[in-house]
Amino acid sequence: MRIKFQTALITGSSRGLGRQIAVKLAREGVKKIAIHYRTGKSDAETTLSLIEAEGASGTLVQGDVANASGGENIVMEAAKKLGGCDIYVQSVVPRLGEIYEHVMATELSLEKWQLAFDTQARAFFVCARTAAKFMSGGGRIIGLSYTMGGRTGGWQPWVGMGSAKAAMDSISRYFAVALGRHGITVNTVSPGFSDASTVVGQTPQEWQDAMLKWAESGWTPMGRRGTPADVAGICALLCSDEARFMTGQALTVDGGACLMNPHFPLALQVPA
Ligand SMILES: NC(=O)c1ccc[n+]([C@@H]2O[C@H](COP(=O)([O-])OP(=O)(O)OC[C@H]3O[C@@H](n4cnc5c(N)ncnc54)[C@H](OP(=O)(O)O)[C@@H]3O)[C@@H](O)[C@H]2O)c1
Repeated sequence: MRIKFQTALITGSSRGLGRQIAVKLAREGVKKIAIHYRTGKSDAETTLSLIEAEGASGTLVQGDVANASGGENIVMEAAKKLGGCDIYVQSVVPRLGEIYEHVMATELSLEKWQLAFDTQARAFFVCARTAAKFMSGGGRIIGLSYTMGGRTGGWQPWVGMGSAKAAMDSISRYFAVALGRHGITVNTVSPGFSDASTVVGQTPQEWQDAMLKWAESGWTPMGRRGTPADVAGICALLCSDEARFMTGQALTVDGGACLMNPHFPLALQVPA
């Protein structure tokens, strides 16, 4: 797989999944990549040096997608510096403390609810449509989602992010129809829980241990948590020419965890 598109902007690529996606796109042939950060300039510089080691050139763009004009400014600046924007990937999530309270859904503060929508749904609406204006030879738009959080109601404190991700998935379907005639695909990629420097790494150690144990117990058929490389690989596939006819889809990358049936104990589902 080599990617024919030459320019890419990845919002939220100072660390976590966004960084791995930037490195993977560089490895697969994307020549110029805008690395975006909000507060982590030195982290973004690390990502920059990693993509340069893969043979790409890069530029840094700073900005906050939580305000109305922030997202648009980020894309405009990146497109100007890159001389275009063939690929847009949104991999943004605020720090856990900004969006998370360990409370029932009915108790989540309006402030946290609003930040979830501003940084996910509205940011995707604004950034994706701005980026599409620079995709004159076709292009790729990918939003990092969490479809499970939008489809279920079990993880109570996630009501804001879950609802905002559901809106992102929905926007991707509408934009896929709007942009299909221009050769632009729009999809979302939905990881399970990934390790390393991601938002998961900000949760208490006992949560991380419990999630790993759960995955290894069989509730994730592949028996492990995902890695940023697992997610980056799917994003790169979506940017390849081979993926040109797939659009408006929400792809789950979770080692099969979403296939398990919550109505039955594991031992009844998977005989030893
Ligand atoms: N990690 C997982 O297991 C997992 C699971 C499901 C879905 N996802 C989704 O995958 C994406 C990436 O997650 P991650 O865990 O890799 O995140 P992460 O490591 O916490 O990185 C988040 C990125 O978002 C940026 N950011 C935060 N608030 C921002 C704002 N207001 N405006 C602009 N940029 C902002 C950060 O920039 P600075 O650091 O420079 O401030 C950073 O680059 C997210 O959309 C997340 O919801 C992740």
